[in-house]
Amino acid sequence: MQTLTTTIIPVRWTESALEILDQRLLPGEERYLACRRVEEVAEAIRTLAVRGAPLIGVTAAYGMALAARVAGSRDEVEAYRALLASTRPTAVNLFWALERCRRVMDAVADADLAAALLTEARAIHAEDAAACRAMAAAGVPLFPEGSRVLTHCNTGALATGGIGTALGVIRAAHAAGRVSHVWVDETRPLLQGARLTAWELQRDGIPYRVLCDNMAAALMRAGQVEVVIVGADRITRNGDFANKTGTYGVAALAHAHGIPFYVAAPFSTVDTALADGEAIPVEFRAEDEIRRCGATLLTPADAPAWNPSFDVTPGTLVAGFVTERGVVRPPFA
Ligand code: MRU
Repeated sequence: MQTLTTTIIPVRWTESALEILDQRLLPGEERYLACRRVEEVAEAIRTLAVRGAPLIGVTAAYGMALAARVAGSRDEVEAYRALLASTRPTAVNLFWALERCRRVMDAVADADLAAALLTEARAIHAEDAAACRAMAAAGVPLFPEGSRVLTHCNTGALATGGIGTALGVIRAAHAAGRVSHVWVDETRPLLQGARLTAWELQRDGIPYRVLCDNMAAALMRAGQVEVVIVGADRITRNGDFANKTGTYGVAALAHAHGIPFYVAAPFSTVDTALADGEAIPVEFRAEDEIRRCGATLLTPADAPAWNPSFDVTPGTLVAGFVTERGVVRPPFA
């Protein structure tokens, strides 16, 4: 398989700052935020300037390297760790990365902490890039030649340390001639599909078309989708998983139309502490994300809105998990 790379760099460490490509501005503008304080990194994660489960973990690890650089004491570094952990509750990669940092903190002397945490952040970043490549290689055979594939949210270079999870697999399958076309759910309310996945596919010259989320049913019924593949924010032991709001609906529709539904995620997204999806903490976000599109008000200004940022899909609807160690098929327990 050809080596797949990306020129998209969503986070980069420099001598003076952690630079974060501000995804809130895409696709209109490519601008980096220069974070010199851990509070700025936490705010960037909380407000989705940087997002996607694996990339949240990578960013938090660099945030810890920054913490060690600016803090006056170990207690202060520990407080920064708690701050970063408070940013987004669902993506387990965040807690997985911070736990790796905690182990590094336990193992090294104060004088070595900043260097050791930066080394760990770089390792987490590089490992995620390698996991993306391995997932891509493992996932290609799942696609019949010329498949039209539907995906939800953004799972590409903007969501990981590498070429992406589900979108990485799609990239590789397209390069292998197995994907002819990508259907991109717009992904209300923050439009990660319409803004970010479309931007990535356009850069790569992969044919795609954006659809509003509520038309996936008609598209499947019309026989226009051969495969569905999405990412995940947390996978439990029985195969239930949390992913962007609307994923469960897509999985149920794929099931109803006999279309295979795959999930691509690294093992850092698996939460072995949880038996099933009931226990996954689902993040609720501001009602204004539903009421507005950008600055434009879509509803009465004080319309009550329900805005869970993720839903939980039962593992019974999953045909397989594409991981860096290969494809895991049911039964998942
Ligand atoms: O709220 P977001 O944009 O961080 O949600 C992202 C998703 O739901 C992705 O599908 C998931 O994190 C996997 S990214 C490889």
